Amino acid sequence: MAITARNEVDTKTVVQMDADYVMHTFNRQRVVFVRGEGMRVWDADGKEYLDFLAGIAVNGLGHCHPDLVAAIRRQAAELMHVCNLYYVPQQPMLAKRLIELSGLGKAFFCNSGAEANEAAIKLARKWAKETHGPDRYEIITAEGSFHGRTLATVTATAQPKYHEGFEPMMPGFKYVPFNDLAALEAAVTDRTCAIMLEPIQGESGVHPASQEYLVGVRRLCDERGLLLILDEIQTGLGRTGKWFGHQHYGIKPDIMTLAKTLGGGFPIGACLATDDAAKAFVPGNHASTFGGNPLACAAALATLDVMEREKLIENSGETGAYLRQRLEELQTRRNDIAEVRCIGLMAAVEFNRDCAPELSAECLRRGLIVNPIGRRIIRMLPPLIAKKEHVDTAVRVLGEALEAEA
Ligand SMILES: Cc1ncc(COP(=O)(O)O)c(C=O)c1O
Repeated sequence: MAITARNEVDTKTVVQMDADYVMHTFNRQRVVFVRGEGMRVWDADGKEYLDFLAGIAVNGLGHCHPDLVAAIRRQAAELMHVCNLYYVPQQPMLAKRLIELSGLGKAFFCNSGAEANEAAIKLARKWAKETHGPDRYEIITAEGSFHGRTLATVTATAQPKYHEGFEPMMPGFKYVPFNDLAALEAAVTDRTCAIMLEPIQGESGVHPASQEYLVGVRRLCDERGLLLILDEIQTGLGRTGKWFGHQHYGIKPDIMTLAKTLGGGFPIGACLATDDAAKAFVPGNHASTFGGNPLACAAALATLDVMEREKLIENSGETGAYLRQRLEELQTRRNDIAEVRCIGLMAAVEFNRDCAPELSAECLRRGLIVNPIGRRIIRMLPPLIAKKEHVDTAVRVLGEALEAEA
């Protein structure tokens, strides 16, 4: 057996060390994970779990896919980091792949979703000032959105609960109700530079933009000379059954941000833009020490290879349709499920009573990882390798946990 921390830890010690030494920014479940393989992870006591969260939409290939592990091992032994003052082959290779997939023009690499959105916000402001004049800096975002936790991205996140205690927020953001085109049109002024949206809001509970809305937003941006920034950090790279969530709507963004699934579990983020928008960045405008390092790019290239070879986009669509069907069946048997929302392998079950945290804890006790959102929503974001048999198990355990908890 490989020598890892798992041989030395017990849950009580880890939980105590975390309390003693780690800042208390998370309300963690009392479970210590030490190993993963495919759809499954194991805790320090050897208990097995079916993972229907994938590290919040990150482990697209499941845990420790052998090709991803091999690529990371190979690259780690060759060259991990040199910084962006020099070229490395993996960075333009990854940019080329993402540009070919997205039809956009250029990529900037960073290390997380929030950083990708920071890049998008800075790029949009710079582009708008140069294109339209110095007073064009305002970005409109939608209520219920989630764009990250840095000061700019948490300001872009139109949820007051994430702002409390951190005021004053960054100037230059304006909020409108999601899926309300008239409200958005009314909010655009001669200060507006961009509209920033998730095509399907993830963190607030899987709320898709309507077809008319997103098509209308694209038209509005074209008419008013605004950039459309789509945050596809959660919806991108197969999560919704297409490479990118916006492909369900037949529109294209001017700027798109990616992270999460991109590295298959290795941290990497990307901000893609049209050639026209990307031109606003010149040397010295934006940077990241670690961004686009050879190790992260090799992980992302291997992840994209596996996604293509194993047809994980198609699988996400097919298994996602089955997940929706099974969850809707569960809904017909229960009178406490108000709504099932499921696009590809991005699913939410909304209840008409406050039960999500307790239900998620009960699922965990029964070996199923799901995610509570607020008091009434359970979110499922399984790895893109999920098959019907995993869906059957997950929906059965969810049903049993509901019986036990109700
Ligand atoms: C849509 C969206 N944007 C941005 C982020 C922030 O990404 P990160 O946590 O990698 O900074 C998230 C994370 O959940 C997200 O779902």
